[in-house]
Amino acid sequence: MKNVLTIILAAGKGSRMNSQLPKVLHKLADKPLLHHVYDRCAELENNSVTIVYGHGGELVKASLSHLKVNWLEQKQQLGTGHAVLQAYELINNDDTVLILYGDVPLLSQSSIACLLAKVNEKTVSLLTVTLDKPFGYGRIIRNQQGQVIKIVEEKDASSEEKAVHEVNTGIVAVHGKCLKKWLTQLSTNNAQHEYYLTDIFAMAVQDDCLIEVSQPEYVEEVLGVNDRLQLSELERFYQLNQAKILMKSGVTLKDPQRFDLRGVINSLGTDIEIDVNVVLSGQLSIGNNVSIGANTLISNSVIGDDVQILPNCIIENAVIGNSSRIGPFARIRPDTVLSDHVHIGNFVEIKKTTVGESSKINHLSYIGDAKVGAGVNIGAGTITCNYDGVNKFETIIGDGAFIGSDTQLIAPVKVGANATIGAGSTITKDTPEQQLTLSRSKQVSVVSWQRPIKKT
Ligand code: UD1
Ligand code: CA
Repeated sequence: MKNVLTIILAAGKGSRMNSQLPKVLHKLADKPLLHHVYDRCAELENNSVTIVYGHGGELVKASLSHLKVNWLEQKQQLGTGHAVLQAYELINNDDTVLILYGDVPLLSQSSIACLLAKVNEKTVSLLTVTLDKPFGYGRIIRNQQGQVIKIVEEKDASSEEKAVHEVNTGIVAVHGKCLKKWLTQLSTNNAQHEYYLTDIFAMAVQDDCLIEVSQPEYVEEVLGVNDRLQLSELERFYQLNQAKILMKSGVTLKDPQRFDLRGVINSLGTDIEIDVNVVLSGQLSIGNNVSIGANTLISNSVIGDDVQILPNCIIENAVIGNSSRIGPFARIRPDTVLSDHVHIGNFVEIKKTTVGESSKINHLSYIGDAKVGAGVNIGAGTITCNYDGVNKFETIIGDGAFIGSDTQLIAPVKVGANATIGAGSTITKDTPEQQLTLSRSKQVSVVSWQRPIKKT
């Protein structure tokens, strides 16, 4: 297989975003536009990726520095041809050069495969689309036999050429040796005084090369992001697509228009039911028979089988064991690991805590930096006082313990197995197993007491 040299053009300013952030760093489904393009190329075999950057380039480079990429700076943006020219030294004669745009995030793998399948020394492979409103795009000009003979930019087009609806997507695959030859012949002799990459097509025809055209399955694949409206449109297209894929694989989405996946589900069970306004992000794993209630955010978490997540929960970096029930209105914060059959109820916040099998924390509690055993019942309003203003301390609650409502556990502290803590206690010392511990003043009733009477 031929070496593919992918050149991603990303030097454009993106002024219509009205942003301090370079356009290609704006995010679609929580991932920078340029990262989407990169991920598509990274899936190709024998491929190396070069990114041509310009405006705000250092920031682009810095924020994607973990990618395996050759970075090339285009100091002045003198056109798409000039941008590709920056990579001239990197192009080997027998490479296949694939040219992509950093602000066109949703190109599919199959469209790329289609392009690459057609390119050779005698054939340039071009992706086009037919648009109702072709304004602004380069038009594909064909001869009477229907063969592509050139591309004419909007600003250079005659009225006859402007009437053409088939447009250049800018996405091309070209044989390395040919491209190098044509790049050196580009000029700025056009309406915009730019080096147009599109001029290579007429040169190709001059050199008896054929121009093969493919079209993407969806027009959205080749749409660029120039402003925030277009960004939102592509986001919705992308999300609806993901929703369709999930539904095909056995997930019920109450409303696919109100579902967002900003990450990857690495492992997905069957019979998952997801209500409206659920946002899943990061790396996720979801078991069988899981239901996720409305208005819930889950990121970077593992959800076991038969889990019920009631509405309005936030779950981050957590593991939820099988047959557990969470919410409504629960917040499960990072490094929480819940075993099987755990119940976490409303207005409960849990952080950096492990909870053993069948334990229940059902109402209005804060449990942080804790190890909760199995079969524990934590009453309403329990607080682990884990922070003295400087350091964090741990609370350990043994198996089978019963913590009465409105208890403060002043960490570091241990509650023994099967211990009972009386409601309203402030526990500052370790409590023994089995016994009842409570710390509250005795209740008294004053028999002869009378309410004060207003003085006249
Ligand atoms: C270009 C094509 C046009 C096509 C359209 C599709 C040319 C001359 N025209 O037009 O035929 O219909 O894309 O969207 O190729 N870029 C650089 N450096 C530069 C100029 C551009 O890196 O000096 C990058 C931009 O960041 C962008 C891409 O190249 O990712 C396209 O640039 P843009 O200015 O949007 O091209 P158009 O004029 O719209
Ligand atoms: Ca453009």
